[in-house]
Amino acid sequence: MTPADEDYRRAVDLLLAGELVGLPTETVYGLGADAANPTAVAKIFAAKGRPADHPLIVHIAGHDAVDQWAEAVPEVAWELMETFWPGPLTLILKKQAWVPSTVTGGQDTVGLRVPGHPVALELLRRFALASPGKPAGIAAPSANRFGRISPTTAAHVAEELGERVPLILDGGPCAVGIESTIIDCSRGAPVVLRPGHISPLHLEAVLGRLPDIETSAGAPRVSGSLEAHYAPVTPLRMVAADRLLDFLNAQRHRGGKCAVISANQPPQAGMPHAWRLMPADPVGYAHDLYAALRDMDHTGVDLIVVEAIPSGPEWTAVVDRLRRAVAGAGQG
Ligand code: TXA
Ligand code: MG
Repeated sequence: MTPADEDYRRAVDLLLAGELVGLPTETVYGLGADAANPTAVAKIFAAKGRPADHPLIVHIAGHDAVDQWAEAVPEVAWELMETFWPGPLTLILKKQAWVPSTVTGGQDTVGLRVPGHPVALELLRRFALASPGKPAGIAAPSANRFGRISPTTAAHVAEELGERVPLILDGGPCAVGIESTIIDCSRGAPVVLRPGHISPLHLEAVLGRLPDIETSAGAPRVSGSLEAHYAPVTPLRMVAADRLLDFLNAQRHRGGKCAVISANQPPQAGMPHAWRLMPADPVGYAHDLYAALRDMDHTGVDLIVVEAIPSGPEWTAVVDRLRRAVAGAGQG
């Protein structure tokens, strides 16, 4: 799926005019605005219903733009860029003084990423050409309403934001399906702030050791501190595989309608209302996760049951997203 030349032109014109554009990336769809224009960036927060102190990721066309946005970039950050850009990795770096605080949530750091999607890259290149001599970055959070499931198709973006976004570039379904891995390189040794497709094992290959992970959801803290996120409107429960059938039977006796998300085949007897079969590998599971949550949310059931998934470093990102979805579900 490739937008027409005309679509790119319109997208660049909208960005230059301080308006919003929905754009595909390899992770999830983003809601983009000119990152150097605070008025444009404010429209992102308004459209999403997102608190203004949440920093945004700035998408850039290539490594050579890094120094326009960040300073004191450590050697390890350049190594990570070399290995993983364009791709699903966001680096948190010390920001240049001029970078608007609307983008950084008032922090002295900026999140940068070169996305690995041809449509996003083409838009970034054209935006840079149309902004000679100026830093050309697109600030883009995931294109969902605050706290809801991130969109992985252009249709999801329209469903989330409708009239709030004047143009959505359609780049087909996202290949990765969950948000980028975020690594903080601004405070010494790199620390993972958000797990993603680039797993601790991938990072170990560059860093020479497994990175520390500091996420609000990944760390064993009181459940109230879990940031509710990526959540369906329907309540969501995670149930261990060996308890699943008993759990579903008990729900049925109570008259509750369930939808199940599972990497195993449905039972022969006593099939619940809906069963979404997931890939059994972590990359495939992540790819399908948000679409599955969104679809099951539309089935009209009382409860979405997710069969517990394996632990282990390659599952870190999926476990993180599911925990947040459970924490935030049922609040719509
Ligand atoms: O894959 C992705 O990263 C997608 C696509 C569109 O690129 N974007 C995305 O953006 O997930 P958003 O806004 O939904 O999530 C951005 C995350 C937030 O958790 C935010 O706190 C963190 O990045 N972040 C951004 N800048 C930061 C900074 N300077 N310091 C710490 N965290 C930062
Ligand atoms: Mg988001």
